This record gives sequence, C-alpha cells and structure tokens, in this order.
Amino acid sequence: MKIVSSVAELRDQLRGQLRTAFVPTMGNLHEGHLSLMRLARKHGDPVVASIFINRLQFGPNEDFDTYPRTFSADVEKLEKEGVYVLFAPTEKDLYPEPQEFRVKPPEQLGDILEGEFRPGFFNGVTTVVLKLFSCVQPKVAVFGKKDYQQLMIIRNMARQFALPTDIVAAETYRADDGLALSSRNGYLSKDERTEAPTLYQQLNEVAQAVRDGHINLSQLEMQAQEKLSARGWMPDYIAIRKQSDLQKPTAEDLEQQAPLVVLAAAKLGSTRLIDNLEI
Ligand code: PAF
Repeated sequence: MKIVSSVAELRDQLRGQLRTAFVPTMGNLHEGHLSLMRLARKHGDPVVASIFINRLQFGPNEDFDTYPRTFSADVEKLEKEGVYVLFAPTEKDLYPEPQEFRVKPPEQLGDILEGEFRPGFFNGVTTVVLKLFSCVQPKVAVFGKKDYQQLMIIRNMARQFALPTDIVAAETYRADDGLALSSRNGYLSKDERTEAPTLYQQLNEVAQAVRDGHINLSQLEMQAQEKLSARGWMPDYIAIRKQSDLQKPTAEDLEQQAPLVVLAAAKLGSTRLIDNLEI
C-alpha cells in the first residue's frame, strides 16, 4: 500500500485510474470501516482510503483534540484489506490556506437531527467530502448507513452537483450484542459498554411498535427517550422519519406505508452515540 500525504502525490499514484473506489475515514479503524473497504473492492478497483480528522466538522466543545489517533494500527489493517493507496493528508496538505469556500446543505436536511445538535457539522462534512472527491476523483465512494443523515446528505450533494461519483451505502456493522461499531465506543467505561446496546434495543422496540400499527409516533419517540433517561442516558433525539427525505411522516405517508427509519442520538456518560434502524 502506498501512503501519500500530498494531493500531488495522490494524483501521481492514481493517474489513468478510471474505476477508483474510495472510502473516506477519520481513522481509528474498526471492523465497520474494514467492511466498507471490502464493499468498495466489489464496486471498483483500485481501492483508495483516506484518513483525515477534519477539524471543520467538529464544534468548539467537541472531541477534535481527543479524537483517537491510531495511525500505525490503521495502516496495518488497511494493508491486510488490500487497499492500494492511503491518502493521509496533514491539515496543511488539505487546507493549505483557510477553507473559505464551503458547502452548505439545505436547512431542511442539514439543520435537523444531528445538524440541530451539532450546528455546522454537515457543512464541515460536505466541504471535506467534496474536497476529498476532488482529490481522489473516485468512480464510487462508500459510506456507512450508521451515519444515515450524512449518507443522505452526501448522496444529495453528489446528485445536485452532478459529481461523477456513485455513492454506495454499507450496512451498519454491529457487535454481537447489537451495538453499532464506532470509534467513539472506545470512550465508554466497562459499565457503559455493557449498557450501550440499550440504544439499539430501544430502536428495535420503536420499529416493532410502528410495524404493529402504532400511529402516535411522537408518543413512541417520547416513551423511548424516557426509557433511556431512566437508565441514565441523556437523549438528544429519537425520531421516526421518512427514509426518502428524513422529514416527519404525515398521516398520508403512514397510510401509504412510506418507508420509515428511526434515528437516535444519546449521551451515555460523556460519550455521544448515534444509531438508526430502517423500519
Ligand atoms: O464519517 C466520517 O468518518 C466522516 O464524517 C467523513 C465522511 C470521513 C468526513 O470527514
């Protein structure tokens, strides 16, 4: 695997490649990321990964400084997956001058759910993803469904800017007890790790209630939040939304059985976890 940090070296390595499959990451790689690499391999060749902890998508009180940095372990894992090039730019490589041009997702998609609780987060994500796409020029890029809203925003961005990159969605990779793998799981204490799968259990309960025909969705959301709070969680949201646009389903949508998804974000101790489940 070639490890490159500058955009010029990356372009040299990828010259003439027309079927590049790209997986952008912020490192601290776990099985979930590796499953994205395997999916990428099915959709293109060569596979290119990036590791870049993107300051633009962290709020002032978020974990940019403490975000886990495990570069040599990450390199070993990517090598085993047969990744061809790892693009690991420094901040100076990717933002040699202040990034004044930014991408801003539409409010109805970027300022709800995660965007409500992490203002500016999706501006930072879309800005870096557009820039990474411009560096790698991939035919295909793979994103996990765990970050459901991120995936949808990137899909819409790719469509609206007519980017020549197909966005491929990867299923969420879960531990045996149901907890969605995430780099932030490493922040959990032993007791918190035991409690953490409750989030996914609550999503399942909500999904089941919807399938059973409950139509008072706000009541279901509230009950699930109360159950989490009673166990010591601090929920930001549990929200039942339409898969198509993440808006609240109307009575008509429910009648027509529009595909739904339940999304959640909650803090356990000082760790903020997110998860979702398609209904
Ligand atoms: O999902 C992530 O790890 C990040 O948001 C991404 C897509 C690599 C952009 O920094």
